[in-house]
Amino acid sequence: MVLTADAEFEQLARETFGSASELELRLLAGPLSRAVEAPEIEGGSVLIVDIESAAQDGRAMVALERLIARLNGASPVVVVVRSITEAVARLLIQIRVSDFLVKPVASIDLVRACAKATQTPAEKRPLEAEIYTFLPAAGGVGVTTLAIQTAMQLMKSGTRASAATCLVDLDFQQGACADYLDIEPRLDLNEIEPRPERLDRHLLEVMLSRHASGLSVIAAPNRPAEMRSFDPDMVTRLLDLVSTHFEYVVIDMPRTWFSWTDSVLLGTNKLYIVTEMTVPGLRHAKQLVTAIGERLGEGPKPKVIVNRFEQRLFDTGLRRADIEQALGGAFIGTIPNNYRLVREAIDRGVPLDEVKPGNNVSGALKKLISLSAAAPAGSEPVTQARSLAWTR
Ligand SMILES: Nc1ncnc2c1ncn2[C@@H]1O[C@H](COP(=O)(O)OP(=O)(O)OP(=O)(O)O)[C@@H](O)[C@H]1O
Ligand SMILES: [Mg+2]
Repeated sequence: MVLTADAEFEQLARETFGSASELELRLLAGPLSRAVEAPEIEGGSVLIVDIESAAQDGRAMVALERLIARLNGASPVVVVVRSITEAVARLLIQIRVSDFLVKPVASIDLVRACAKATQTPAEKRPLEAEIYTFLPAAGGVGVTTLAIQTAMQLMKSGTRASAATCLVDLDFQQGACADYLDIEPRLDLNEIEPRPERLDRHLLEVMLSRHASGLSVIAAPNRPAEMRSFDPDMVTRLLDLVSTHFEYVVIDMPRTWFSWTDSVLLGTNKLYIVTEMTVPGLRHAKQLVTAIGERLGEGPKPKVIVNRFEQRLFDTGLRRADIEQALGGAFIGTIPNNYRLVREAIDRGVPLDEVKPGNNVSGALKKLISLSAAAPAGSEPVTQARSLAWTR
């Protein structure tokens, strides 16, 4: 089903789909606002909607949104626009169009977009990822280790064989996710940054790395000697895109607070601060909790995980009661110190469970993550749509 008022695009649609015997092409002409009401618009296996100038025409977007609500996932929608702005692109992602193409459209791209749209099972379309973010209170406290392990656990937590899970390494300068998993980082920031609007699902797929376990990873090659920040738009667009294609997204954050940090945290469903069992470590964690409360107000409430915990019976060092006193309600638990296990996993480039199934680090983490989960995954749809906060 093609809805267009543009003779040139109509011609292209006829040339692209008209001759294939296994396809039936239906064209609907006229302005979007009227066509949207037409009963024949339902029932196509793909609906291509040409919104000529979305940027100028707010009504077109409203009509499109109504249309998608009416279809309610019955047929996927591919949108064609004359030109696109960042704002329109985001809106299209929010209202969950399957894909969008910018004119002039090539036949092959139109076919690909339609093929992709129909291949995505209906129940996967209205996806709203649950986002877990790990923030360090100090350097080397184990953020990367815990983020990887959480992603692995979430992937296996679904009711199906494995939940679509993506680990995103936002520590662009010193990221270690790809190294720890022994995979090649494929996110090319140089290519995206000049024109973030080019980042679409096709480009995203090219820039995803896959771990043998099935985990998807977004990580960029390290730039240890470069001190630079990235356009916040690029980061939010990347996360918007990732969160519409995965069930779980786990983010490994850098220590530095960048211009995009606020919006990443606001888009998060579960926020964890990782720290260690030292006085400065606890102090920094406490300061971070306070700072986040001030900056983000009603945003996600951070929970503090104390990593590499050791119960020292005859020592004068810190004890659990000291942590509880220092962190109050923000403290959710400890992860035991198991240096040999973690080091072996890192050196072999495998997750902890592969070194030793049922190890104490994974076990403790599993408890903390499920403890802080408001509702078990999949029990009800996530109606908060937190991830969309990135776009506001
Ligand atoms: N539970 C643990 N028990 C023992 N060692 C651990 C544990 N968690 C992490 N480590 C070790 O701590 C070191 C730092 O871990 P990791 O790289 O995950 O921390 P990070 O916070 O991401 O560091 P960075 O600040 O460099 O990004 C690693 O050598 C790792 O082996
Ligand atoms: Mg790290």
